Amino acid sequence: MEEVIVAEGLTKTFNGFKAVDKVTFKVYRGEIFGFLGPNGAGKTTTINLLTTLMKPSEGRGWVAGFSILSEPEKVRRKIGVLFQDITLDTELTGWENLWFHGLIYGVPRKELKQRIREMLAFVELEEWADRQVKKFSGGMRRRLQIAAALLHRPEILFLDEPTLGLDPQTRRRIWDYIFQLQKEGITVFLTTHYMEEAERLCSRVAVIDRGKIIAMGRVDELKGTVGENIHIRLASKSPEDAEKFMEALKSGGLAGEVYLLQTGEITLSTRNASEVLPKIFEEASKLNLKILEASYHAPTLEDVFLRLTGRRLRDSEVGGIESIRLAHRRR
Ligand SMILES: Nc1ncnc2c1ncn2[C@@H]1O[C@H](COP(=O)(O)OP(=O)(O)OP(=O)(O)O)[C@@H](O)[C@H]1O
Ligand SMILES: [Mg+2]
Repeated sequence: MEEVIVAEGLTKTFNGFKAVDKVTFKVYRGEIFGFLGPNGAGKTTTINLLTTLMKPSEGRGWVAGFSILSEPEKVRRKIGVLFQDITLDTELTGWENLWFHGLIYGVPRKELKQRIREMLAFVELEEWADRQVKKFSGGMRRRLQIAAALLHRPEILFLDEPTLGLDPQTRRRIWDYIFQLQKEGITVFLTTHYMEEAERLCSRVAVIDRGKIIAMGRVDELKGTVGENIHIRLASKSPEDAEKFMEALKSGGLAGEVYLLQTGEITLSTRNASEVLPKIFEEASKLNLKILEASYHAPTLEDVFLRLTGRRLRDSEVGGIESIRLAHRRR
């Protein structure tokens, strides 16, 4: 397998703070490789290093066979980048944005028109070509950015949170484009903090937290490292009751790892949920505690993250409603 992205001990320090800390990985040609991690994990900084926008403080990297340190111009010619922040001129039309982008990237003028037409068709925005971008929805802006990133026919595409904040339908459409690009032989490196996105799209995933890669592999391999997950909500909201209950579960050998979530709910991993569940109810009644809700589900990448960090991927950024929705989807 041909390596098209190689990161070796990449480190980026901002005023003594390590935003990216000895990050090492390889991406092979034709893969969709995902960088999954919570806010502030170091995803965008890693993309900035690999796309030569920033110089690493330490470490080395190669993209399309060229060194990010000594051959940044050559690297840039091989890659397309979708930045996390919208980089369009909203006063200009869709067509004009692509035209200027193409010129900046050195697409020959005589080919540029045809390529813009193709790319607008690819992201299904032909009818919007002559409208100002400020009239575009968030999803349409994202699609136009994808078109822009592809104009100079890059071999490798970097997508920083390609579907951040988009509705599920638009998100799926963007996933379709990404699969389509993979079929055409383009290697995709994407960052996301949506575990569902990483699960659906990526052949391999690196989980990044606080600047460090804490797990890496195929999605099914990673999930195989955690058992089934049981989720319990006690009637009592008292932290002491929760603690007591968790102690009982641990000492009764019912679960390897037990976590108390911010919501006061308890989650634990086990290899055989259907056998363990009734015993959990017995433990609760021994302690005179009432279980309001109990559910279990097959492992997700969220569980992998929880097991490795003791935190949930999304705790830092979502309010109650989103967590409830997440809980429903997992059942
Ligand atoms: N130019 C900078 N100067 C100082 N600190 C920075 C700079 N860029 C990023 N950081 C810090 O580095 C850490 C990693 O930031 P980064 O943007 O790479 O995270 P991220 O994983 O992309 O997060 P998000 O999901 O919010 O996009 C954060 O703590 C951030 O505040
Ligand atoms: Mg980011």
